[in-house]
Amino acid sequence: MTKLADPLDIGGCRLPNRLYRAPVLECAGNGADAVEALIDELEPTAESGVGLVFQGASIVTSDGGCAAPNMTRVHDPAFVAGLERLTDAVHAHEGKIFLQLAHGGLRSMATWHAEYRERNPDERQLAVSRPPWQLRALDRAGLISLHPRVLSTDEVYDLAEQFGRCAGYAVDAGYDGIHLSAANMSLIQQFLSPFYNRRDDEFADGVRFLEAIHDAVREHAGDVPLVTKVPAETVAPSFVRRHISEAAAVDMARRLAAIGYDAVVPVEVSTFWDMSIVRGAYPERAWAAEALRDGYAAAFGGRWRARAVALLNRLQARRFDREPGWNADFCRRVRERVSVPVLLEGGLRTRADCDRYLGAGDGEPAADMVGMARPFYAEPRLGARLLAGEDALCDSCNNCTVPQVTGEPGRCRTPSVVRERGRLEENGAYERTRSDRE
Ligand SMILES: Cc1cc2nc3c(=O)[nH]c(=O)nc-3n(C[C@H](O)[C@H](O)[C@H](O)COP(=O)(O)O)c2cc1C
Ligand code: SF4
Repeated sequence: MTKLADPLDIGGCRLPNRLYRAPVLECAGNGADAVEALIDELEPTAESGVGLVFQGASIVTSDGGCAAPNMTRVHDPAFVAGLERLTDAVHAHEGKIFLQLAHGGLRSMATWHAEYRERNPDERQLAVSRPPWQLRALDRAGLISLHPRVLSTDEVYDLAEQFGRCAGYAVDAGYDGIHLSAANMSLIQQFLSPFYNRRDDEFADGVRFLEAIHDAVREHAGDVPLVTKVPAETVAPSFVRRHISEAAAVDMARRLAAIGYDAVVPVEVSTFWDMSIVRGAYPERAWAAEALRDGYAAAFGGRWRARAVALLNRLQARRFDREPGWNADFCRRVRERVSVPVLLEGGLRTRADCDRYLGAGDGEPAADMVGMARPFYAEPRLGARLLAGEDALCDSCNNCTVPQVTGEPGRCRTPSVVRERGRLEENGAYERTRSDRE
């Protein structure tokens, strides 16, 4: 029976246990304090005993491509070299850290963030193909703004090369592996998805883009462990007929493992940027916060539009309510077809969840490693408590997610949870005992 404390190899990298921090935005940007902000956010997690920290989506290009405010770019080798202080800090606690590489494509801020558009009127979104009619209709209605630039075949190769270059910079800075942001409606998901991809060149097969990235990573970063999310668009709205089915996604995972990906993270998502990746409650408190109202209006183009987005959010929360381990069945099906490790995240909150999905009890294991994302906003040093057999405090209320559209950092914004963390801190619950370390 696999245990949370058992080590695991991913692409030759020995991880001390099977608990990971899933990629979530650190909102550290690229300013003078970016490295310090990342250390402040991620070192406590490594210190708490988490075996693998996935740093959140980091953009590979020098402009465009950011899906949210204050994302970090990693196109500049001098900046990435400075992140060695972060990787050293993680390694000092015997943890490992992988960098997630990303590009937003049609999900970039230029599409949806009104104030950003005003500041960057000429920015165009990189696109796999002409956007689907549903997005064009939203554009005509003035709800989003599309100025797509469809990538030529050569440009797709150049972009894959850029992912490879950034992977090389990361390895030079001491990162232990690379993760690809291939879900959440990112540009990579757009390549994989028949909803977005209507190309007639070799990249009509979206897996070819991941193959080109794989080859570029191998060229620039050698045999560094390479992980990717694998999206199944199983919860796309019913009016979207062309989407990645679960069977197609399982086959993609199989092909990616054959190409040389060292681990996969299967996730059930939509074709749009909705709550399918952050299932939980409607964030009542976050939308009601007076101090954030102007920020919401700036992001969504006015107070009425912000209210309309809040209403959509309320409807979405009914559809995507809290659901522990929502990717588990999909992971199980992928695991039957690949021999590389399968990583499970999405709604896990208890130690019992972790043990069950790793195979404790009668059922087939769903995964080789288990991860959490929002719970680390609530408790950066959560690893110590989970490894000691306790449960996370986060209840998926989502008060931490919406404020990020205004440029607010990702942190827990539910007072009862923050108070409880304080009480646990006072009681030494986050101190790792000698037996945890052994
Ligand atoms: C604020 C926020 C930012 C996220 N950013 C990323 C990201 O950068 N890359 C990514 O692959 N997933 C991202 N995710 C998805 C998480 O990795 C994870 O799959 C999701 O939150 C479900 O896990 P949880 O229920 O433990 O939070 C993000 C989620 C949240 C809430
Ligand atoms: S606000 Fe706190 S409790 Fe709510 S989802 Fe975010 S981290 Fe979890």
